[in-house]
Amino acid sequence: MTASVSNELAKLVTEAREKFDSALTEDELNRVKAGYLGRQGAISALMRRMKELSPEERPAFGQRVNAAKDALEVALDRRREALRRERIQRAIESERMDVTLPARGGERGALHPLRRVEQDLVGIFRRLGYDVAEGPEVELDFHNFSALNFPADHPARDMQDTFHLEGEPDRLLRTHTSSVQIRTLLANQPPVRIVAPGAVYRSDEVDMTHSPCFHQIEGLFVDRGVTMAHLRGTLEAFAAELFGRSVGIRLRPSFFPFVEPGAEVDVGCVFCDGAGCRVCGQTGWIEILGAGMVHPAVFESVGLDPEEWTGFAFGMGIERIAMLRYGVQDIRLFYENDLRFLAPFA
Ligand code: PHE
Repeated sequence: MTASVSNELAKLVTEAREKFDSALTEDELNRVKAGYLGRQGAISALMRRMKELSPEERPAFGQRVNAAKDALEVALDRRREALRRERIQRAIESERMDVTLPARGGERGALHPLRRVEQDLVGIFRRLGYDVAEGPEVELDFHNFSALNFPADHPARDMQDTFHLEGEPDRLLRTHTSSVQIRTLLANQPPVRIVAPGAVYRSDEVDMTHSPCFHQIEGLFVDRGVTMAHLRGTLEAFAAELFGRSVGIRLRPSFFPFVEPGAEVDVGCVFCDGAGCRVCGQTGWIEILGAGMVHPAVFESVGLDPEEWTGFAFGMGIERIAMLRYGVQDIRLFYENDLRFLAPFA
């Protein structure tokens, strides 16, 4: 009897150790442990069989069971520790982070290409000594037309071309930034040198090169003794800055009611160096702005003496410059907010 019980004990210990070692998780180990060391476990069952032994045999058997229990606790602890380490190791592997990876998120915005061009144009004129002036987009007829010497029946004043405010015959969306010439001259005693960038509106049909809202930058220089040579020199300096090298300019006589003489100004085509190409329509020249000497009637409408004051003005389309600079064929791309178009400018 003794031999068989102690045999069983030895077998139990060996078997328990094996099961401990093959437990794959700490949970499983706890379940296996309960099967041997728990109240309903195999060791307790063995203890209950003590009564099968003679009283003399019992103390020694009790000691051996206790020693076996201790041995199992040790084996259990070792396995538990091994499993714990494995768990931590796995966590380290699976939760490893590469601190050298670039940070996520926080995409950077960028200026819209039109705003960028506007800022560049303003920057060029600032360096030439110009200040920046502003005016409202909802204008009075006075600033936009009559003070600029547009006759009452000028076609530009027609509903077809100009957005008027309903029920307010005197108010309209400015059709050009030239209205800022009037505001500037009413608010400041010459000499003045300003550029005025901003949105303007015309009820054009939308196509590749027209939009009902677009942007202009106006220039105005008023002082004593200003001549057309100053205008030409200024525009030449501007064009050279804009295109990064000296390009020829050409003034063609043209009509705007608020200048006399007036001109349309071309720059030598930067794509073919004047040889003639598709962009310049084989002419070697690209029109970029309107300009001229401030009309005496304009000085009169702002209360300045045209015998004393002289000046020049110019105005250009910002979209037009941006289309030339970036090779954009369709003006609508600037307004669609399509990131496929905008992202390359970032
Ligand atoms: N305001 C004119 C236009 O929109 C441009 C211009 C400005 C012409 C200043 C001459 C002088 O077409």
